Amino acid sequence: MPRLDATRRAADRAALDPIEIASRDELTALQLERLRWSVRHAYTHVAPYRAQCEAVGAHPDDLRDLADLARFPFTVKDDLRQAYPFGRFAVPREQLARLHASSGTTGKPTVVGYTARDIETWAALVARSIRAAGGRPGDLVHIAYGYGLFTGGLGAHYGAERLGCTVVPMSGGNTEKQVQLLRDFAPQVLMCTPSYALVIADACDQLGVDPSSLGLAVGIHGAEPWSEGMRAEIERRFGIDATDIYGLSEVMGPGVAQECVETKDGPVLWEDHFYPEIIDPETGIPLPDGTPGELVLTSLTKEGMPVIRYRTRDRTALLPGTARTMRRLARLSGRTDDMLIIRGVNVFPSQLEEHVVALAVFAPHYQLEVRRAERLDTLTLLLEPRDAATAEAAKAAVADLLHRVKVHVGVTCDARVVLPGAIPRSLGKAQRVVDLR
Ligand code: DLL
Repeated sequence: MPRLDATRRAADRAALDPIEIASRDELTALQLERLRWSVRHAYTHVAPYRAQCEAVGAHPDDLRDLADLARFPFTVKDDLRQAYPFGRFAVPREQLARLHASSGTTGKPTVVGYTARDIETWAALVARSIRAAGGRPGDLVHIAYGYGLFTGGLGAHYGAERLGCTVVPMSGGNTEKQVQLLRDFAPQVLMCTPSYALVIADACDQLGVDPSSLGLAVGIHGAEPWSEGMRAEIERRFGIDATDIYGLSEVMGPGVAQECVETKDGPVLWEDHFYPEIIDPETGIPLPDGTPGELVLTSLTKEGMPVIRYRTRDRTALLPGTARTMRRLARLSGRTDDMLIIRGVNVFPSQLEEHVVALAVFAPHYQLEVRRAERLDTLTLLLEPRDAATAEAAKAAVADLLHRVKVHVGVTCDARVVLPGAIPRSLGKAQRVVDLR
């Protein structure tokens, strides 16, 4: 099945929200108006945020220009944790329509709350995202993001319904059933993490179903870092246009940014609802557009849990608008807290992924094992051959791979080829790093 002509799936400009293609000046004026409201809303109704502002002498009246935001304090994940469960809400709990929570690795989850209007806004932004990815009203949308406290499933669900699609709320897991429903229902749109898309493709192969014969046209993948090589693999195997969706529960959930199918040049940040900054993660100083750093987001319209200057820990850069007026995010390289420092070299798992998937003998499932030997960190790449028949070729290709990694990423590591299927598969976000330090 040939991939859809991207220009055919490109959104008809008349169907876009006018603000998506408004002038930069109109957008800036709207942002400033909304920013003033949002900062005042948080200051007035979220006592711990007001205390943070008072500690540095920042007041909502100071906001005359967008740049004045830099005077306000950051919000970090720990601030939200300390307010567990409901201390960061700006409205009484009874006025919230829904709660979600992100698990975190240890301790208490981070709880987020939405008013009915916040849920409406979220649905509208995910609907806009699905359209940007090439989805259309009337499409059948198979959602394999997890449903529940994770924002992926329900966030995608409400957006797809809002766009006027028919939704299959499959959730993650039960992969054989996923294949059966994909084959029998023939959806146009698949929404799941990129790593799970490949798990589904493998399951198709095992069941003798050619994934490119399913009739899918559009993939909307996110919730974890992925590379251009991974995109190429998903597109080739399903015969689809695979696009990147970004979001985080603290700020909303999926649909904070979405890549346009006609350009596939990084997710467009929906700047009418979120104000982005890039900062130097060490100093906290804002950096100019185009410079990589940590993404900081301020919600402009959220009622239930406004966040001002939330430090996402995600590394990216702000790029000028192309298919839309709004700025894009450069492909997210990883989280500042996932960054490995191997003998002084900063390494993100996604940088290595690019080289693994470039060599056809390796399966696109991999892990990085980090150990400490005599106070030095060492990195071992765990690799799978694509299948039993390529096992020998995979072993022979290891030296080539390590060489590429050394030249392009600048890090020396070793590698171990394990049996096909030995690396644990995830139903949602893949666990790429195994830290044995
Ligand atoms: O992962 C929301 C989501 C669901 C996004 C479905 C896209 C699709 P959290 O569980 O709070 O929310 O995790 C948010 O996941 O800070 C990033 O580190 C990472 N992440 C999300 N989207 C991408 C992406 C959801 N497209 C955290 N590329 C974020 C890279 C991503 N990383």
